[in-house]
Amino acid sequence: DLPASFTGTIDLGIIGGTGLYKLECLKPIAVLPAMPTPWGTTSSPITVSKVVGDADEHFHVAFIARHGLHHQFPPSKVPFRANVAALKHLKCKAVLSFSAVGSLQQHIKPRDFVLPQQIIDRTKGIRESSFFNDIGLVGHVAFGEPFSKAFAQYIHQFAHVIDNPEATDACELHFDADTTVVCMEGPQFSTRAESKMYRLLGGDVINMSVLPEAKLARECELPYQMVCMSTDYDAWRDEAAPVDVATVVGNLTNNGRNANALASAIITEMANKMPDFMLSGDGLKGSAKGGITTK
Ligand code: ADE
Repeated sequence: DLPASFTGTIDLGIIGGTGLYKLECLKPIAVLPAMPTPWGTTSSPITVSKVVGDADEHFHVAFIARHGLHHQFPPSKVPFRANVAALKHLKCKAVLSFSAVGSLQQHIKPRDFVLPQQIIDRTKGIRESSFFNDIGLVGHVAFGEPFSKAFAQYIHQFAHVIDNPEATDACELHFDADTTVVCMEGPQFSTRAESKMYRLLGGDVINMSVLPEAKLARECELPYQMVCMSTDYDAWRDEAAPVDVATVVGNLTNNGRNANALASAIITEMANKMPDFMLSGDGLKGSAKGGITTK
């Protein structure tokens, strides 16, 4: 738990994905050892930080590395429930998450960022995706809109901070109402046929990590938005080689730099003025209660 000397509140939870193990805009004040929860232990220690610069002293961020500090948890083995439960326990008001993704659309270039608003689940039945299984409760929370639109809009105002100094065309931050992330099990990437199928289904980007994270955040009534960082064109383009690890890794440095720039802009602004969706709970307060029965 937090040191007894800590009397503040934790405002924002951040879950960093592949290539993002810390953020430069954060000034750590405590590192909590990996936290045991009734759903296992978090994938990494939790770093509690203030914001560097002149941002409000009272704003605190809790950061978890989704795959562990040494990238030891493959997507299927990430203790998602422990991670989200820990952020809820620390009383975060919202969760900002980052993930490397493949692009299923020509206009989403490697190194572009995407704020998805919809999810297609290809992990169903494989991962533990609820806090309510096996504890004598039946829970059915709404998940028709799995992300926080208000949070995405908030992030989108900083679209101008991301760029690729090595390319002639600037990196873009894509955001519209039905931008869809496909979540696949992995760890192998998709076949060309699967990749083409996901395009037909309406997928825009693909990753292995948005679920069950987004479902668990919803069960915790936490506004949640993922920033997807494109590393590759997956396998659907017949004229190009299908994605491999070298392609993904080749784009992680630029994506890491942009994630830092974007996070810094978001967090500094939040620290100076807490956005409404964090103060109000984005309409989610009490929403899980209505979806749960005990008999
Ligand atoms: N993460 C990064 N690129 C990916 C891809 N093409 N498929 C699934 N997950 C990914």
